Amino acid sequence: MNRFRRLRSTDAMRSLVAETSLSPKDFIYPMFVIEGENIKEEIPSMPNCFRYSIDRMDEILDEINESGISGLMIFGIPAKKDELGSEAYNPDGVTQRAIRHIKEKYPHLIVCADVCLCEYTSHGHCGVIENCHIINDKTLPLLAKASVTLAQAGADIIAPSDMMDGRVEAIRDALDLNGFENVPIMSYSAKYSSSYYSPFRDAADSAPAFGDRKTYQMDFRNSDEALREIQSDIEEGADIVMVKPGLAYLDVLKAAHDTFNMPLAVYNVSGEYSMVKAASKMGWIDERKIVTENLTAFKRAGAKIIITYHAIDMAKWLKEEN
Ligand code: PBG
Ligand code: ZN
Repeated sequence: MNRFRRLRSTDAMRSLVAETSLSPKDFIYPMFVIEGENIKEEIPSMPNCFRYSIDRMDEILDEINESGISGLMIFGIPAKKDELGSEAYNPDGVTQRAIRHIKEKYPHLIVCADVCLCEYTSHGHCGVIENCHIINDKTLPLLAKASVTLAQAGADIIAPSDMMDGRVEAIRDALDLNGFENVPIMSYSAKYSSSYYSPFRDAADSAPAFGDRKTYQMDFRNSDEALREIQSDIEEGADIVMVKPGLAYLDVLKAAHDTFNMPLAVYNVSGEYSMVKAASKMGWIDERKIVTENLTAFKRAGAKIIITYHAIDMAKWLKEEN
């Protein structure tokens, strides 16, 4: 008889044949930095995630540092927003200043800079608006400009999340032209229009003032299209490609892994985090076990890099196991 149970007999036996494992180095921690002084405010829909002013950031940076994770993804929330999201490409904007601070004090942490306009525009859309339409080709130069200022501030990886067509090429050209030919691009290639982002939009105050993001982010009924998006980003020069969100899109992640020979990232987004936090607060699930299972699933499906709000906790749990 085939007895699969032979290799499940003890912890040691199961570990011997385990196909997947997690390491703190797999993780990137997303964090929010806000204009102002002496601010550390909890995001109501994201328990234990905070918005920090630059002068209070060291608290979390020390934790990130000690946890042994690879780095962080930075999201800036400017004091003033306008039609064209000008703070996104202000060389002295809150995000650029935060990156300078991090690279000065923690030079070995990998700083990924999210590139988009929605945190910076008064209307909350990811691109330039004319007559209530998001204009793709007028957005590209602004994204390129933002990317250059973020690279100048010291960002290690530029991560465009806007979903405009052609942005990877526009950003690559601008980076190269400005002497940043060695700064990699991690593209949010298959980014779906998803209700799982709503806690993030509370955190960044970036919900669209009208309409939704369905004309630029992907339709969740599609997966073949995700592979075309990823292919196109690779052709435009992306160094790392991403699938986002994660849990409801493991099929897409697996297909991306099987199709492309590329470093692959997954974004375990805010709504996924908040659901786990809420259910565990109710005592309905075991947070540590659920998070371990979720993050392992990303690895099993083929992700190399996991961007997650659980990063610091998971790294601590992994240490406790060893
Ligand atoms: C900016 C951006 C968003 C997220 C990452 N970058 C929000 C959005 O597209 O609305 C979502 C991250 C999360 O939900 O954790 N475009
Ligand atoms: Zn956006």
